[in-house]
Amino acid sequence: MMKYCALLRPHANSRYQAETLKLARAELTALLEKGECRADVRCEKRAGCDWLSFEAEALTADQRTLAALGAHLYLLFQEAEDGAMVPLLGQKEAYLESDLPLVLKYKGKTNETFTSFMMNLALCASNYGAGEMLTVLDPMCGRGTTAFIALNRGWNALAFDQDAAAVEEAEKYFKKYLEYHRVKHTFIEKSMTANGKQAAKLRSFQFAKTPELFKAGDTRALTMGALPAANLGQIYKKPCCQLIVSDLPYGVQHAPGGGRKAPSLEDMLYEALPVWVDLLHTGGAMALSFNVNTLKPEMVRGMMAEVGLDVVDGAAYEGLEHWVEQAITRDVAVAVRRF
Ligand SMILES: C[S@@+](CC[C@H](N)C(=O)[O-])C[C@H]1O[C@@H](n2cnc3c(N)ncnc32)[C@H](O)[C@@H]1O
Repeated sequence: MMKYCALLRPHANSRYQAETLKLARAELTALLEKGECRADVRCEKRAGCDWLSFEAEALTADQRTLAALGAHLYLLFQEAEDGAMVPLLGQKEAYLESDLPLVLKYKGKTNETFTSFMMNLALCASNYGAGEMLTVLDPMCGRGTTAFIALNRGWNALAFDQDAAAVEEAEKYFKKYLEYHRVKHTFIEKSMTANGKQAAKLRSFQFAKTPELFKAGDTRALTMGALPAANLGQIYKKPCCQLIVSDLPYGVQHAPGGGRKAPSLEDMLYEALPVWVDLLHTGGAMALSFNVNTLKPEMVRGMMAEVGLDVVDGAAYEGLEHWVEQAITRDVAVAVRRF
């Protein structure tokens, strides 16, 4: 058996940092399990830093690839018998640049590490592999954090929000980003109609990491639009993604209609979930985060089960409730479309 230690990325807020240790542990457990490595991952403090440690047979190439997706991971070491730490890997290299989801700052942005963590839980719960060409949908994308993280994994992204200004800002930011980094791309706008009326204007980017890949047609795509989440079925008539990852409105500052509290969050989810399920390919999975002060965890999981999803449980998917800020305690529910 080998001993492994993962040094975790620090977070500026120490209370949040303490809270996210359990998320980091769950994430590494899920990623190792996905690679068929069952390990007892433990949290440790060494030299004043937070670490995760586990013992396992020598990690295979596939298991290392999965571990490198870890959102909380800074560096993974192998610990030699004399206690020396041998660096094994850091985070997987970004398809574009690692700062893509970081540069745009705004109130209400979902933490990038947390978003990437949710994407990992959805991936691990799904029947799909990290090396497959996946499409990730965020039906409540704000200014696109989920989409940018998916693109940096070399996947495609679909990003929608009812807030047209937020979608437009994300689109402008991405366009500038591609231009600034001289990434070869095309951009098209297309009006989609439903029942004879315009349902949404779709904005699509097609791009590739290098001009050679672009020329060879080895491209990635980001499609965005302003649309209420329950209306996505108007433009997608069949499954269009393998993963759905979304940070739902907290009912505090992002309430539909801009109110302070959102009594309608439950109704909104009740209306949207059946639509989202139809957009997931069989074997695909959904990870939704929400404020437990405005949406009850058992109700969210119950609604997921009601629309035919298999809600995932087990060590990596339970006990994920964590403090974010005053009035926001967040939880994550993960479910798979089996049929
Ligand atoms: C917590 S924020 C998501 C932030 C996003 N992850 C980001 O980092 O920019 C929730 C988002 O849900 C959107 N939203 C609320 N109700 C919606 C609905 N019915 N349909 C679509 N989007 C909705 C809000 O406009 C807001 O952008």
